[in-house]
Amino acid sequence: MQFSDQDGSGAGMGPATAGVGRHWAVVGLQWGDEGKGKLVDRLAGRFDAVVRYNGGANAGHSVVVGGVRYALHLVPSGILAPGVLAVVGNGVVVDPERLIEEMDGLSARGVDVSALVLSDRAHVVLPYHKAEDALREELLTAAPVDEKSPPKHAVSAIGTTRRGIGPAYADKVQRATAVRVGDLLRPELLRSKLDLICSMKNAIFRGLRPGEPDPFNAGEIADRMIGFGERLRPVIKDTTYLLHDLDRAGKTLLFEGANATMLDVDHGTFPYVTSSNASSLGIGPGSGLPPQKVGTIIGVVKAYSTRVGGGPMPTELFDETAHRIRERGREYGTTTGRPRRVGWIDLVALKYAAMVSGVTEIGLTLLDVLAGFDELKLCVAYETPDGRTDRFLPDGFDLAEVRPVYESMAGFGDEITGVRSFEDLPGAARRYVEAIEAFVGVPVRTIGVGPDRVQTIEREAGVPAGGRA
Ligand code: IMP
Repeated sequence: MQFSDQDGSGAGMGPATAGVGRHWAVVGLQWGDEGKGKLVDRLAGRFDAVVRYNGGANAGHSVVVGGVRYALHLVPSGILAPGVLAVVGNGVVVDPERLIEEMDGLSARGVDVSALVLSDRAHVVLPYHKAEDALREELLTAAPVDEKSPPKHAVSAIGTTRRGIGPAYADKVQRATAVRVGDLLRPELLRSKLDLICSMKNAIFRGLRPGEPDPFNAGEIADRMIGFGERLRPVIKDTTYLLHDLDRAGKTLLFEGANATMLDVDHGTFPYVTSSNASSLGIGPGSGLPPQKVGTIIGVVKAYSTRVGGGPMPTELFDETAHRIRERGREYGTTTGRPRRVGWIDLVALKYAAMVSGVTEIGLTLLDVLAGFDELKLCVAYETPDGRTDRFLPDGFDLAEVRPVYESMAGFGDEITGVRSFEDLPGAARRYVEAIEAFVGVPVRTIGVGPDRVQTIEREAGVPAGGRA
């Protein structure tokens, strides 16, 4: 079978990087839940600060340390590394109540949260955002389908996490109806803003839910938010200056992407995406640090595909294989508990995501989940209404029309959770890894073989991608 440099450019086929530049980033290349948290947690101790730049409590990073599972939503995974600053940048939308809950939960388990810093320019997720998110989803679910257009052309619910993410980002772009973290420390301004905003939001809800009482009480919301502001006051900072100061002082930064490249609002499978730039492209606007400062971008990739919520997923499976992968991989949402949709690895999508996010290396995760299958399938092209292509179709409606073209490889029978070096993996597992890096044109540097921090294979630098037998 032919897993080679698809476009013949040779791009990315050189020696594996050992990581270049002082600042690195870790981003998901699929639809989220690739295991970024574990990788960030492993790397965090080598950096001075870990920085979140997008998303909000829709993200769910679970990290297992010493057998204890930590589910983090807003706090950067770096918090688990002692002495490392954990920065929530301006591009994040913050639900203060959840953030405080998460901080308290970590403290109760003995994690030091004093290294947390929160941007005064991050936007606040308010109760009405969550209500709007739920209402929109309900209305979309109930939207009548036009009989004349096929269902794949009908708009349907996004399947959001209902954490108010979309409405909070929408208000950010609307400007006057937005509340930033810094506003929590300015009670008078906050009250006057919320009076106006709540009257507007109540009017909208009255229109859509006639006869129901006004859902939002500006005074109550303001009181609670002012309380949260007081609690968070010590951690609220200008993180743009902070990051530039750290950069000038020669410190190292690790950017932790939330959600994933395929969910990027501009480059993902729109409209079935989240509302931020969840690829590495969000780093600049979401942190204030120019993109050229980041030298190494690690794309995190599951050994198969999963997706939560609506939208197309060309390699989705509905059979016993899906069930087995879901159970072995514990594929249930960290944030919502929803069973994740499961499918074979989609190399067409992956190559596109690696291109958009500019990844310099791949962190492959959950390879152990695929042990025991006789055959593994990899999607290498799409059949579209206009013929076969190896280019991704990022438009959600176009993508819904493609059929995957697979190539098959032999599976590996043995459990690999105890393996710690690439050479000790079964030959079929090594060939699977090599097929991925050859197709995508980016070296696979780490391979996850289990949930714990230590269950990771690191491949040494200088291994040519796809170059091992
Ligand atoms: P939202 O971000 O809650 O608006 O959800 C938009 C879409 O992105 C939905 O399909 C969610 O399931 C998905 N999504 C958002 N964040 C994550 C994540 O961290 N992992 C997986 N899916 C996510």
